[in-house]
Amino acid sequence: MESGVVRLDDRLQTEIESAADLLLKGGVVAFPTETVYGLGADATNPQAVQKIYEIKRRPANHPLILHIGDMDRLGDWAQDIPEPAWKLAKHCWPGPLTLILKKNPRVPDCVTGGQDTVGIRIPAHPVALALLKALGPGKAVAAPSANLYGKISPTTAEHVRVALKDKVDAILDGGACDVGLESTIIGFDLEVVAVLRPGGIPVSEIEAILDGPVRLMQKHEPAVRVSGSLPSHYAPTTPLRLLARAEFADAALRLAGQGFRIGIVTWSDVDSLEMDASLMRHIRHISMPSEPVQYGRKLYAALHQCDQLGLDYILIEATPQKPAWLAISDRLQRASHAHL
Ligand code: TXA
Ligand code: MG
Repeated sequence: MESGVVRLDDRLQTEIESAADLLLKGGVVAFPTETVYGLGADATNPQAVQKIYEIKRRPANHPLILHIGDMDRLGDWAQDIPEPAWKLAKHCWPGPLTLILKKNPRVPDCVTGGQDTVGIRIPAHPVALALLKALGPGKAVAAPSANLYGKISPTTAEHVRVALKDKVDAILDGGACDVGLESTIIGFDLEVVAVLRPGGIPVSEIEAILDGPVRLMQKHEPAVRVSGSLPSHYAPTTPLRLLARAEFADAALRLAGQGFRIGIVTWSDVDSLEMDASLMRHIRHISMPSEPVQYGRKLYAALHQCDQLGLDYILIEATPQKPAWLAISDRLQRASHAHL
C-alpha cells in the first residue's frame, strides 16, 4: 500500500473489525501507527500480553506502551496525573508522544514489567484509532514496536511480514508510517519533566508547550527501564558504521577496494563528498533527504533495505548536530554501537 492519506475503505474496515475480534480472543495483531508498526495485544489480558514478549524475544522486565483511543479514559489506566502531563497530552494527542505516568492498579504487571508506572499514548494513525474504537471503551492495546528485540522498528507492513509473518494472528496494512521514528517518551520524576527517549515530537515543541526547559536523559544515566535506551538497539543485521563527513569517502574507498559490498547512506550531496565515480559503481547508494522530518520518515526503510541487499557494511554519513536531528542521531548511534 502507498504511503500518504489512508482511507478506511470497506475492506480495511472489515479487516480492522476482525483484528479487534482476534485481540478480544487473546490474539496478537500487528497494526500501523504514525510512528512505527506496533505488535498489539489486549492490555487487560495477561496471557495475550505474554505472547508479545515471546514473539519479540523481549526480556519480561521491559515494559510495553499502552495505546488508548480516548483521552477522557486516561484515568482508567493512570492515576495522580501531573499538570504538565495533561498539557502535553492535550497538545500532542493523538500523536507521537508517550507519557510515563503512575499506573492505575488495574493495569496488569506484565504490561509494565512490574514497575509502578505505565507508558501511555494515543496514536494518530486512522487504522490504529479505528482498531481501538472497534475494541470498545474500557480497552487498550499494549504494543511495543513490531520487530524482534533489539532490531530496527518496522515502518511498513512488509517489514513486519519479513520479520514476524508466521508468528502473529494478523497484520493490518496502513501504508508507510508518516513519522518513521518512535514516539518521544516523557517522564515526570519528582516533578522534573524529562525526555527519556527523543522521538516524533521535537524537544523544542515539548519546551514550547510547557513554557520551560526539560531535562534530556543522558545515555549513561540508569533511567527507568527503557529498552530503547540500551546502548545497542534499533540495529540492522548488517554492521553499520556512522562516519563524519570528512572520513566518509576514504572509508568507502578502502572497504570497496577490499572487495566488500557496501551500502552508503548520505544526506548531503554525494558529489561534494568527492566520491570517485568508478567506485560508485560498486557501491549501493541510498540518498536521504537533507531535512530531518523527511529523513526520519525514511531512515528505518533505508536500513531494512540495506539488510535485504545482503551487504557487508553500511556506512552512514553522520547527521547534523542540531536539535531537530536529535531523535535521528540517537537511533543512528544506537544502531552503530554493536559494530564499533
Ligand atoms: O512510537 C512508539 O512508541 C511505538 C509505537 C508502536 O507506539 N512503540 C514503541 O514501543 O516504540 P517499544 O516497546 O519498542 O518502546 C517503548 C519504550 C520502551 O523502551 C519501554 O521500555 C518504554 O517505552 N516504556 C514503556 N513503559 C515504560 C515505563 N513504565 N517506564 C519507563 N519506560 C517505559
Ligand atoms: Mg521497539
